[in-house]
Amino acid sequence: MLIFKTQKELRGYLEQFSTQIIGFVPTMGALHQGHLSLIENAKQTADIVVCSIFVNPTQFNDSKDFEKYPITHDQDIDLLEKKGCDVLYLPESVEDVYQNEKKISVDLGNIANVMEGANRPGHFNGVVQVVSVLFDIVKPNKAFFGLKDFQQYCIIKRMVHELKLDIDIVGCSIVREESGLAMSSRNMLLTETEKDEALILIQTLNYLQENCKQGDVKHWLENGMALLKTQSQPEYLTIARADTLETVEFLEKNTEYRAFVVAHVGNVRLIDNIEIFV
Ligand code: PAF
Repeated sequence: MLIFKTQKELRGYLEQFSTQIIGFVPTMGALHQGHLSLIENAKQTADIVVCSIFVNPTQFNDSKDFEKYPITHDQDIDLLEKKGCDVLYLPESVEDVYQNEKKISVDLGNIANVMEGANRPGHFNGVVQVVSVLFDIVKPNKAFFGLKDFQQYCIIKRMVHELKLDIDIVGCSIVREESGLAMSSRNMLLTETEKDEALILIQTLNYLQENCKQGDVKHWLENGMALLKTQSQPEYLTIARADTLETVEFLEKNTEYRAFVVAHVGNVRLIDNIEIFV
């Protein structure tokens, strides 16, 4: 795997692949099986797979969260090499990423105002800013995102549509530990006891998936919230349409829904979601 520390060198190298399919996996490092499944997906359809590792300061609304974000570069490089990733962009500085930034303005609509948009002010502006810059550097044909951050995936799709970028945004299934816990870089910050407590997120989502059928779901959401509170400090638990992310309390046939949860276990903020079958 080739590692580039500056966008200039990376661009210089990638130019020769302009007629081939470039698959791109942007990450913030602290890689786990979820990220590696994105690389695997990319390898299946792309001629060359590029990964980036950059903890983007502009998407953290909480500076403590940014400071404690795990950094495991040596291990990440090892994992990427074993997976057969071709190129890694590991910028040497924040300035290297943002040097040619064009001011973009994207109307993200209501999908950016709910859930993570409402609870982490500025977060999606930061995500859109960095992803658009990275797309400009890497010029991928396809980019791969995990569905654990389902709202982020919707926002990137919307951004690509609004900016008329010719990039296929591929959403990849959530990868879970055997216990059911969704893989996350933040899991590294949990103690063993907290990892057990964190299972309440998937247990609550499974409970909603089993019980929420056509009709009123308010009661199930209240029960789900009570369940969540037994082991965590919930931020939100909600069911929303999968297309518009509009929150609902009544499920109709022939519509796709997902249940979304954010809860804190110890000092760690965890996120997860699941499909709801009506
Ligand atoms: O999902 C992430 O890890 C980040 O939000 C992303 C897409 C790499 C942008 O910094």
